[in-house]
Amino acid sequence: MSAPPLGLRYRTAFLTGASTGLGRAFAEMLLAEGVEVWGTARDTRRLPAQSRFHPIALELADGVSTERIFCEANNEAGGFDLVINNAGFGAFGGFADSEFSLWESQIQIMLVNTARLAHAALRDMQARSCGVLVNVSSLAAEFPLPYQPAYNVIKSGLSALSESLMLEFAGSKIVIIDFRPGDYRTDFEGSVRRSAKDFSPRQQKAWRAFHRLMESGPAPEHAAQSLRRALIHGRSGTVRSGRLFQAVVGPFLARLGSLALRRKILLGYFGL
Ligand SMILES: NC(=O)c1ccc[n+]([C@@H]2O[C@H](COP(=O)([O-])OP(=O)(O)OC[C@H]3O[C@@H](n4cnc5c(N)ncnc54)[C@H](OP(=O)(O)O)[C@@H]3O)[C@@H](O)[C@H]2O)c1
Repeated sequence: MSAPPLGLRYRTAFLTGASTGLGRAFAEMLLAEGVEVWGTARDTRRLPAQSRFHPIALELADGVSTERIFCEANNEAGGFDLVINNAGFGAFGGFADSEFSLWESQIQIMLVNTARLAHAALRDMQARSCGVLVNVSSLAAEFPLPYQPAYNVIKSGLSALSESLMLEFAGSKIVIIDFRPGDYRTDFEGSVRRSAKDFSPRQQKAWRAFHRLMESGPAPEHAAQSLRRALIHGRSGTVRSGRLFQAVVGPFLARLGSLALRRKILLGYFGL
């Protein structure tokens, strides 16, 4: 028997990074399920023009305005049943080769300001005693990506935040989902900020492997279906999404082996 549309359960959703990639697929899935979506991008012309979709300009680098924009939308919507922290980007380069400010600003934007949005969302959900918060992390929280040190810190931190919140809200009607995609074919690779014009031969190898993995990944609609299934179940938890090896086999084998073995396999996976 097919599940009833999500719109019967979730009236309104706030979604960051709705212009492309996973966020765009989430927006389309939610709209098709009858959910009214407030979706963000830095440039609203990149957002879908559709009924029941409310385009919002939001630059996550500005934490104060991010919170203000969220609160305004929340008032307009009469509270969000679902908040999805999805916006993000990558940065590639050796830790010591890159300017420290690049490392610091990525963490400020993607971890601190994302947490700020989660904080504002949960304040309102707490007042209403219900709601679902989805933080889009990454399998990089378990399997770090070489030469993407800030990204690894961000996704581990975001997953740790989600885990903490699952403990806090256990037994309540507030649901926390730690959504961890593997490699998906999106615009992500194109938006990666490079710390230097020229990479070392070892960095080039890692970059090529990263490129191959992204290019051969599933389409974003696959991630939207994973999210849909998680929302149907309505339970807090970690949701891994992606090709079978990355999302199921790898994490299972990693639990059996040591951290040193996992590191060795990761180096092989990236041809290093
Ligand atoms: N693709 C993958 O393989 C993969 C794997 C694991 C996790 N993820 C995570 O999934 C999320 C979405 O990634 P994606 O692959 O869909 O990438 P994408 O296609 O590049 O989309 C990124 C989205 O984030 C928005 N964004 C980027 N920087 C922003 C900023 N400073 N302020 C506000 N919005 C910003 C972009 O909006 P604009 O229109 O403003 O650019 C865009 O909508 C990210 O958190 C990423 O880390 C992706």
